[in-house]
Amino acid sequence: MTSVRATEARAAEAPPFATGSSDSVAWQRRHLLDLDDFTVDELELVMQTADTMKEVLSREVPRVPALRGTTILTLFYENSTRTRSSFELAGKVLGADVINIAASSSSVAKGESLVDTVKTLQAVGADVIIMRHSRSGAPYLAARVVESSIINAGDGLHAHPTQALLDLHTMRASFGSVRGRKVVIVGDALHSRVARSNLWSLTALGAEVTLCAPPTLIPRGLDAGEGTLPPVHVDTDLDRAIEGADVVMALRMQLERMNGGFVPGMREYSRMYQVNASRLARAKPGALVLHPGPMNEGVEISHEVAHGLQSHVEEQVANGVAVRMAVLWLVTQHGRRRAATETE
Ligand code: MLT
Repeated sequence: MTSVRATEARAAEAPPFATGSSDSVAWQRRHLLDLDDFTVDELELVMQTADTMKEVLSREVPRVPALRGTTILTLFYENSTRTRSSFELAGKVLGADVINIAASSSSVAKGESLVDTVKTLQAVGADVIIMRHSRSGAPYLAARVVESSIINAGDGLHAHPTQALLDLHTMRASFGSVRGRKVVIVGDALHSRVARSNLWSLTALGAEVTLCAPPTLIPRGLDAGEGTLPPVHVDTDLDRAIEGADVVMALRMQLERMNGGFVPGMREYSRMYQVNASRLARAKPGALVLHPGPMNEGVEISHEVAHGLQSHVEEQVANGVAVRMAVLWLVTQHGRRRAATETE
């Protein structure tokens, strides 16, 4: 792959921004698949690196050649506005070549398997493949068959690690640390990859997480610490759960992942679980309102709250670019360090 030469060439260069002295020590991952096995140090490193990237984004010309010669492909089997565009911008700010592939207009539409597709992308020179797929686990399969870095941009209802990292970054921008902060995640947790990834990062860093939803939309065994997610508080009553919250994160009803009636009706659901002004008044004054988007205003969140003073939804989107720059930089350092060792 021509990109290996680029990686070797970059190995000798200093990055055009300040990096934490610990990054070569703490970061050992080629892929980013989920946050379930992330250490506190790794989460801290991503956050510090994202701060550095914010400085780059604030420059008059926000472009650096840090990933010059690196080829990034986005491979999306599901629709996306924010995630794909912010990955694309993140790669371009760092000087990488970014190519977008929509599965619907690629050979996938002719029946090519996932394994064949990612092997083809590796063969054309992909250093990083950013992947979104409707099937949980698809990026894990890809990571087993190629040497390119795989970044999970959302797989089924399983994980969406960069969304959780940008949510964390947005909370830290207001609080510094999330330790002891009450974070209420409300909505369709059962089908939400965003909620799942957030549970890992927030509990690892000591936040008090409450998941609030109708019983039918809560992953089984969560409050008992059974199953595959960290134990958190569970409440089916939003008026009670939201009391004293520092952060209220509303989730979209994932109708495309539902194959049955999980709630009596959307009007009933909104009446009981919508984040609206009167409910938000029960949270701490100035509590942050987050939503991963896309928002269904009038369903899980009222228009007034979605665009009100406490809404940090646009900030989340903006932070997504810095966080994804950090992730791209860190995963490509894996190859960079390996190339440096090989050329010594
Ligand atoms: C996702 O891709 O999971 C989104 O960011 C959240 C959603 O679709 O509701």
